[in-house]
Amino acid sequence: MNLHRRSFLLGTAASTLAAQSSNQISTAVIGTGNRGSYLLSGVLEQPNAKVAAVCDIKPDRLDKAASAAAKHNPKTYTDWRRIIDSKDIEAVFVATPPHLHAQMAIAALQAGKHVYCEKPIGVTAAQVRDLVKAARSSKRVFTAGQQMRSYKQLNEAIGKIREGVIGDVLMVKAQRHATADLAHDGSSGDWYFDVTKSGGYLIEQSVHNLDLCNWVIGAHPSRASGFGATQLYKNDPPGRTIFDCSLLNYDYTNGVKMSFTQNVFHPRTMPSGGQYVYVYGSKGAVDLMTAATMHPMSRDAKPIVLAEKQQESRHAHITAFYDAVTKGASSPADITIGATAALTAILGHEAMVKQTVVNWKDLGVDVG
Ligand SMILES: NC(=O)c1ccc[n+]([C@@H]2O[C@H](COP(=O)([O-])OP(=O)(O)OC[C@H]3O[C@@H](n4cnc5c(N)ncnc54)[C@H](O)[C@@H]3O)[C@@H](O)[C@H]2O)c1
Repeated sequence: MNLHRRSFLLGTAASTLAAQSSNQISTAVIGTGNRGSYLLSGVLEQPNAKVAAVCDIKPDRLDKAASAAAKHNPKTYTDWRRIIDSKDIEAVFVATPPHLHAQMAIAALQAGKHVYCEKPIGVTAAQVRDLVKAARSSKRVFTAGQQMRSYKQLNEAIGKIREGVIGDVLMVKAQRHATADLAHDGSSGDWYFDVTKSGGYLIEQSVHNLDLCNWVIGAHPSRASGFGATQLYKNDPPGRTIFDCSLLNYDYTNGVKMSFTQNVFHPRTMPSGGQYVYVYGSKGAVDLMTAATMHPMSRDAKPIVLAEKQQESRHAHITAFYDAVTKGASSPADITIGATAALTAILGHEAMVKQTVVNWKDLGVDVG
């Protein structure tokens, strides 16, 4: 009797496993550096994913990724086009330097694969336009690596702002101040300081902060102006073409005004450092990034926590990607969100470089 029951259980477990593995989305990761390794660890945690291939042009990173995913025995490639040509690969993660994202994501979508593409999805308006076209004409899932869209606390706080808890949103003031430049000899030191590859600090990093501003404002900018420069790290590292300081103003299609600054020389002990997004409404203001706390306008009112700090799942955004692929759930950072975030940064960058007001419509991309 016991024996029977045991073999029944074993049989059930085996068939469940077989069913599970046949339902696993065969996945490849292109670019297994800093971010790609992190994404790979997230994919490995998903019960409905199997790492079928990893790709990097640097042999040491490729080896490290293959070892990390050894339980799935992935194929290894140095040429990313082999991934695109592999009929058995259903989903592709793109975590290469930013200037390569659009062409890789477009090729993957056109080959019928689902795509998780790291931010920024492009560093020029033309790249974003081409990727928007490819994603819209594909029936596959596209998710941009704007993972804040999967944070529960932000979803809750922004949901309440949408419901009108601070009245009409009038103005946003945001910043991204760092205490130091990105390590010059770090993992991404060979592309980050080249504006043609990273897009610059605003496009490469602040795309997260700008996406949060777009999200809470509920629109995209209509125009931007600003100034940027390399104030401290002049030609450091040698050949540097990215700014280390930016001051920007954005005017949104719904009339909201936004001011954004960034630098990499905010001393650690100097107050008001780090990152914040202050949202000012007609009934009060919210400090969105740190505590999601509302400060009512009325003189005697006490601050109200809009959303408590929550235990955020490390890989919620990756889980959401596979939910979109396997269950038809909507992507929390679809092509419209990814493109709007990248274009907001590109708009600000162009305003700084051209030293004039740049209009959204002149970017020539219809985000819908
Ligand atoms: N969402 C986030 O919070 C977050 C955090 C960090 C980085 N990122 C993004 O991830 C991307 C990668 O950043 P990173 O810090 O991992 O950089 P990285 O330099 O550590 O990794 C990039 C990898 O891509 C590989 N690569 C370059 N060209 C390639 C090609 N043609 N084919 C295959 N592989 C190629 C490089 O060898 C390198 O290993 C960037 O777009 C960055 O903005 C996102």
